[in-house]
Parts: sequence; structure tokens; C-alpha cells
Amino acid sequence: AHQWRGIIAEYADHLPIEPGDPVVTLGEGGTPLVEAPALSERVGGRVFLKVEGANPTGSFKDRGMTVAVSKVLATGPALVVCASTGNTSASAAAYAARAGLACAVVLPAGKIAAGKLAQAIVHGATLVSLEGNFDDGLRVVRELGTRPDVALVNSVNPYRLQGQKTAAFEIVDALGDAPTIHVLPVGNAGNISAYWMGYREYAAEGRATRTPVMWGVQAEGAAPFVKGEPVEHPETIATAIRIGNPASWALAVAARDDSGGRIDAVSDAEILDAQALIASEVGVFVEPASAASVAGLLARAEAGDVPAGATIVCTVTGNGLKDTATALGDTVISPVVVPPTTAAVADVLGLG
Ligand code: F0G
Repeated sequence: AHQWRGIIAEYADHLPIEPGDPVVTLGEGGTPLVEAPALSERVGGRVFLKVEGANPTGSFKDRGMTVAVSKVLATGPALVVCASTGNTSASAAAYAARAGLACAVVLPAGKIAAGKLAQAIVHGATLVSLEGNFDDGLRVVRELGTRPDVALVNSVNPYRLQGQKTAAFEIVDALGDAPTIHVLPVGNAGNISAYWMGYREYAAEGRATRTPVMWGVQAEGAAPFVKGEPVEHPETIATAIRIGNPASWALAVAARDDSGGRIDAVSDAEILDAQALIASEVGVFVEPASAASVAGLLARAEAGDVPAGATIVCTVTGNGLKDTATALGDTVISPVVVPPTTAAVADVLGLG
């Protein structure tokens, strides 16, 4: 049976890694493209989820981190540094640990999901809690990144987007062509830029007959692309995309406009509803930011913007296990406690 070897080995000819370069990999990529009939029915097209929560650290960030951290080893050891809303820091910490490099992560105080924080800690990163948001953190680490002993691994590092574009390759490889529409959440705007690069590359090589229309989705309280300008105090329950001043602004606008796409906003309530729907009817547990893509698609379908016969891929970017507190909300976990007998369990189940 074929064992997936990680994106660098699988897509070597499309990545800036030379033969003989060190490769730091945890087997990232090769994630499931799961058909979602419950969504297809509602939307009127054929809907698939690209389940990026199946990556080694539970988010799409691993695709970029394998390339970025491999390059740190290639160019000489340095302190691996990032600002993060949680997933980048989890990924950076894991890949730095694997590479034997020290890692420091700058995190907005009190706004990181518990699972992501745990990941940075168990992988041995130094945590710096910032009295500020992600945008403040990114400004600080960009300044630190000018030092020769610091390797910045946010998506302003071009190797990150190179790695992340491989998700588009996998989708085309799986479907036999590009989808009609690709929907994904937008925060710092690296991922939409990376997908667009990947789709264009494959189309230019004749591996796809078309590029998809790119639909980005932001949270209403953190929607600079919808406003058309940075948001000073971004707020959303989807903390992963609580970003007001995205770094890849121009690239994301190009992805939107060159693909004939759009970037919309959805409310926190729509995000939570979509998260619950994906969990209960598709069988995939995603984090709130990831559910924004599906929430956005459902809103567009409601507005009549989904063409008949469309093939639609929604990237669900991160694993729901990272943020169980938000998923459970005010749900009280209080299952019935029974004696350890078959009769007692059968009774609770109404099995007579
Ligand atoms: N979904 C999840 C789960 C994320 O963690 C992020 C970004 C996004 C979507 C948005 O992707 O920034 O490329 O537009 N998380 C970054 C982090 C900011 O620090 O983990 P983007």
C-alpha cells in the first residue's frame, strides 16, 4: 500500500526544495476530500470538504511549516518565531521540535483556544502572551525577524505559501479537475493566496482545464476585505481568524478578482450553526474558523449564487478538538449515571 510521504516528497517538482536539502516532515498533507451530501442537498451543487484538521498538528499550517522549517535548517539554525492566533504556533512548535530548533510564539493574551495552547506547550515552545491582538503580534515578530538569529515562519515567509498551495494540487489530483468554486475562511489571507497560486500552476501545466472561482469568508467582526480597509479591533468567536490587518492583502485581492470571486462576511451565529451542521450531518468536527467557509457557502446558496451543477470544495482548515469549549458552549455534560449492568444501560436506551 502507498504510504503518503508528506508534501515535500509528494510534490518535490513544484516546491523550492533542492535534492539533498534537509526535509523536516511529519507526513503532512494527503488529507481527505470528503463528499458532503448533506451540504450538496442544501446548496444544489456537489459539495466536498477538504479536511485539513487531519494534518499532523490538526490544521493546514503544517503544509507551509514543513517547507519553512526545512529551509531554516538549510540556511542555518535560528530561533523559529511566529505570531499566531493558535494554529501557526502549534505547527511551528511541532516542526521546530522535530528539527531540534528552539521556538518562540507570540500570542494574543486570552484569545487562544486551549488545545492550541497545549500544543505549543507540549512541543516545548516559549510562549509570549501579548497585550494586544494578532496584528500587534505580527508587527512585533516582523521586526524581530530582521535579526539573523531569528527565522520568521508566519505566512509572510514565502515558503509557507509554497507549501500550502499543495492543497489545491491534491484537490485537482482527486477530482480530476479543479472545482467550479473553492470556498475557504480568510484571516491573515495567506491560504486563499496559496490556493490560488496552486490552482493557477496546475492549470498552466494543463493538469486542470480551469481555475475555480475563489470565495473567501470572514467573520463579521473581523472582515477587513468586506469593509475595504483594516479593522482596528477585530472580534469574533472564531479566534483563529480574529485578524484586522491581513498581511497578504494584495495577494488575496488578486485571488478574489482574478478568479471572478468574492469575499463575504458571516456572523458568529452562522459560524456556530454551520459547525454544528457539519458535525451532526457530515460527521466532521471542525473548529469555528473552519466552519466559516461552509457558513459562507450556505449564505451564497440562499442568495441564489450557486450555479446548477457546480462542484464546490470548502476547505475546513482546523480540527474541532482544538477548541472544545466553543463547540460545547453552555452545553452541560451530564449523562445519566447507571450501575454497570446490561439491563440498566438497555433501560436508559429505551430498549425495554
Ligand atoms: N482557519 C484556521 C483554523 C486558521 O488557523 C487560520 C489562520 C485561518 C483559517 C485563516 O487562514 O490566515 O491564511 O487567511 N490562522 C493563523 C494562525 C493566523 O496564527 O494560526 P489565513
